[in-house]
Parts: sequence; structure tokens; C-alpha cells
Amino acid sequence: MQAYDIIAKKRNGYSLTPEEIRFFVDGYVNGNIPDYQVAAWCMAVYFRGMTAAETTALTYAMVASGDTVDLSPIPGIKVDKHSTGGVGDTTTLILAPLVAAMDIPMAKMSGRGLGHTGGTLDKLESIPGFQVDLSRRQFIHQVKTLGLAIAGQTTDIVPADKKLYALRDVTATVEAMPLIASSVMSKKIAAGADAILLDVKVGTGAFMHTRDQAIALAETMVAIGRQLGRRTVALLTAMDQPLGNAVGNALEVIEAIAVLRGEKLINGVPVSVDLREITLELAGRLAFLAGKTETVVAGRSLAEKSLVSGAAAERFARFVSAQGGDDQVLTAPETILPQACYRKTVPASIDGWVCRLDAWAIGRAAAMLGAGRTKKEDMIDYAAGVLLYKRVGERVTAGEPLAELHYNTAGMVTQAQTLIAQAFTIEQAKPGQKQSLILGEVG
Ligand code: URA
Ligand code: CA
Repeated sequence: MQAYDIIAKKRNGYSLTPEEIRFFVDGYVNGNIPDYQVAAWCMAVYFRGMTAAETTALTYAMVASGDTVDLSPIPGIKVDKHSTGGVGDTTTLILAPLVAAMDIPMAKMSGRGLGHTGGTLDKLESIPGFQVDLSRRQFIHQVKTLGLAIAGQTTDIVPADKKLYALRDVTATVEAMPLIASSVMSKKIAAGADAILLDVKVGTGAFMHTRDQAIALAETMVAIGRQLGRRTVALLTAMDQPLGNAVGNALEVIEAIAVLRGEKLINGVPVSVDLREITLELAGRLAFLAGKTETVVAGRSLAEKSLVSGAAAERFARFVSAQGGDDQVLTAPETILPQACYRKTVPASIDGWVCRLDAWAIGRAAAMLGAGRTKKEDMIDYAAGVLLYKRVGERVTAGEPLAELHYNTAGMVTQAQTLIAQAFTIEQAKPGQKQSLILGEVG
């Protein structure tokens, strides 16, 4: 078998055999196949696509490139949730303790933010003392005893993805659907959960801009999960405006805590009802997937109970403490978490109704203020970010604040302010019916 022939076969539109795919992935990881041949192959995949069988074979080969986590010492059906990435998407911080409070073990490996979306690890690390580097043993022990752990992915998990993703990033091949699906699913499969819930974001702030693209991705990922023996379901959710009203690491932790504690305001800014709603929808599905309830509706109502009773909030505090963080964060988030030295509001220039709010632009603005990275090595300013005063469908009057910038360094503040002002589309006519948050479901 030769790499050249495999590239040519894909270029000519034929399907590759599992053996060919395995040979190619192994060859890349072992250093026998050079970057330039893999780059050509990725581009061929981008244009020719892959069949379901090829995509599953690719995922399997990627999983086999490294170690897998064996969660079998933990009793029960272990669940995992993955979001394809959004702006102000703090659901994991609420969902994980909520699911654990329902007696469903959640073993989650998360990533860091890059570009305009935030990463769960960065948000958690804004809590002083919080450790995301857990040994395999600590990880399993904590899920066993506390019902949840969130850790960074160790380097021995899916090494093929690390190499491939870095190469795709610089060869304009990130957007190839089979490559996205295998990248996401290989990490989920290797992380060992029995049930996987995928939150596929659709809209201006997401990878997938249209519902059709998102459905195709969701169907591909669900098919892979099932073929590799995992209960897998995907929910399509809207990401046109940021999900939460807080965008930025410590600010998102504050909003997550507000949802856990049932509070309506953070720093005088409303807590997003959408964030709570999506979290409950996801939790209901996880309860159903884990066999806790007979239906998703019953799962949701169980989740609501665990949230309202304070059980989820209490579990959050124990989780923070178990991973080395200060659990006072639950009761006094504003004193425990870093706060920005400066704040500036962005006022509405005219009276009217907010008709659109561009999630991508808000994510970019928050990153400019220091909340995100443009390169993997960049440092994050945990306190920096944006609080939104208004969401789509709300009325504003000229001069009223639309958003508040939080920052420590003023370098990009003017650009961020402009970007935020432009992110709001204010019109004279009241927008029609509210767009649904849930745009579909696969599986
Ligand atoms: N997220 C991933 O983990 N992989 C991709 O290829 C795209 C998004
Ligand atoms: Ca993510």
C-alpha cells in the first residue's frame, strides 16, 4: 500500500477501504507519511467527501492511534455531552453538576477556546486554584465518588486528531464534514462514555451556518457513535445570538452560578433565560439516554427539580472543591473571581427593537478585550469580556446601554466597541415570533 495511491483514489472520487484508511492514519502518526501528502489527502476529502462507512473507519483509526479511557469501574451509564462550539455557551458548567445531581455519572474531557468561542477549561480555570489536569486515576475516582469530573484531554488520547487538526487549520481543510465528524467523535469515543449527547450549533456564531449543514453533520456523527456502540443523540440549537448574556471566562462562570442559584440578575444585567432553557433540554435528554426516565419530558422535569431544589448548585460547589478551586465561588462569585479594572457601556444610537444580535461579532469583541486566543499559546485575561443588556426581541431607547465591556488593557477597546455596536441590528418594527432555540433533533 502506498500513500500516493490512496490520495489518487480519493481524488478520483472512489471510496477507501478501512485498511487503506488505517494505513494512512497510522502512517501519519508514526511519521512515515509526511504532512504534504496528508494535506493533499485532506483536500481530496474536502472535495470528494466520504461515505458513512469511510467516516466510521476514519474515526475508528483515529481512536486506535492512542489510548482510550476505560470507565467500566464506574457503575451506571456514563454520559458525555459535546457542543460544537458557540458564544456565551456556558451550558457545561450548569449541566455537569445538574446531571450528577440526578445520579447520572458525567465524565467529561473538554477543550480550550480558540477564535471567537470559549472553552470550558478556560472558564473553569478562572476560578482560583481550579485544576483541569487530572490523572486518569483521579478522573475515574472523582466520577465514582462525586458523579462528575471535567478534565483536559491528555496527550495520549487521539494523537491523530492533534496532528490532523493542526494540519487542517493551515491548509483550509477544517470545514470538511467527514473530518469534523471524525475529529469530534474520535475524542468522544476514546473518552469512554456509554451515551453521548451532541449539541450541534447552527447560526452566525457556529461552525455550521445553515440548518441543512448542521443536520448533515449531526446525522454523520450520530451514525458513527451508534456504529461504534454508543447511544448517541444530537440536538440542533440556535447560535445566531450568544446563548448567555455573559461572554468571557469569569463572567460566564458568574452567569452559570446565577442559573444554578436561580438568580435573575448578574451585576444588574439579566441572566439569559435561553441558557437555562437549553441546559434543561440537554439535561432531559441525558436523563432519558442514561435510562433514568422513560421519556425526555420526564427527564426534563426531573432536571428542573434538581435545579430548583439547589441540588445542582450544591454539587457544583463540591465539584469545584474536589478539583482544587475555592467553593466560596458559589456564594460569592464576584469576590472570588477576577474582576476587570475597567468597564464601558455601548449605548443604543436609536430607539427601536433588537432584531438581530450577531454572536460571531460579540465573540470576536470579547476575544479582542482579552477573553480569547487567536493562537494556542496566547494568554487569556479571565476577567475580560462582554455583558449583554439586551437580546433579540427586546425594545431599546436611544442612549440606553446595549452591552458592557469588561477589560484590563485598553488596546482594542475602540474596535471592540464598534464591533459590538454593529452586532446589534435595531429596527423600527417589532420582530416577529421568537426563533426557536431547538432547531431539530437527530437520533
Ligand atoms: N471541533 C473539533 O473537535 N474538531 C473539528 O474538526 C472541528 C471542531
Ligand atoms: Ca467545545
